[in-house]
Amino acid sequence: MAPIANTEDRYGLVAIVLHWSMALLMIGLAALGFYMAALPDAGFDTKKITLILYHKEFGLLAFVIFALRLGWRVTQVLPKLVEHLPEWQMVAARFVHLCFYGLMFAMPMTGWLMSSAAGIPVSFFGLFTLPDFIHRNDHLFGLFIELHKWLGYALVLLLAVHMGAALRHHIVFKDDTLRRMLP
Ligand code: HEM
Ligand code: HEM
Repeated sequence: MAPIANTEDRYGLVAIVLHWSMALLMIGLAALGFYMAALPDAGFDTKKITLILYHKEFGLLAFVIFALRLGWRVTQVLPKLVEHLPEWQMVAARFVHLCFYGLMFAMPMTGWLMSSAAGIPVSFFGLFTLPDFIHRNDHLFGLFIELHKWLGYALVLLLAVHMGAALRHHIVFKDDTLRRMLP
């Protein structure tokens, strides 16, 4: 069993739970996002609206987990990458991780701003409603929808690289890269 905290050689339990719950959420939200955005805006069919509501609530949950994760990340040792990695792969791995932190922040943020600009406040599982930092504005709404979409494409692209690299290390190189992120 992994220790609670990170060590130089592996991720600890807290980081592992945060990583995999976030992975599930981000992949689920991206799939749901692309699916629901492609549904027609039918007048009497509430399916699209219902899915968007779920997407927003779980999107905010992702933001909460991101805040916890960032806090944990900056107070923990960062495990070293596996040995004998060419330098460009070290740089690429750390760069993708950094981009993920950016996306975990920017995806919920642009979603929230998009909703504010549309004049539809965001509630967090009915517990409270988020403040709107910007007023209703059709131009900004269009801008944030586009941004949110392109960040979604970037997420899919980086995921392919990240998952591909993790599987390649596990299957081809048979090193500990994936095992270090497992309990
Ligand atoms: C099924 C999909 C995924 C697999 C197989 C996977 C696998 C891994 C592995 C093996 C590591 C450890 C790499 C190392 O340090 O040697 C890792 C780290 C990391 N992964 Fe993933 N991952 C997945 C999805 C995601 C998603 C969706 C995100 C985006 C939120 C993400 C963000 C990160 C970050 C940021 C790190 C670096 C550790 C940290 O600083 O928190 N991963 N991942
Ligand atoms: C990590 C969190 C999130 C991810 C990965 C994500 C991902 C996506 C993706 C991929 C789309 C489809 C974009 C398109 O094809 O136009 C989408 C749409 C959307 N997202 Fe998110 N999202 C997240 C968080 C949020 C949050 C927090 C909100 C609002 C509070 C939000 C509101 C929306 C809305 C309203 C749409 C529909 C836009 C349309 O009808 O075209 N998202 N999201």
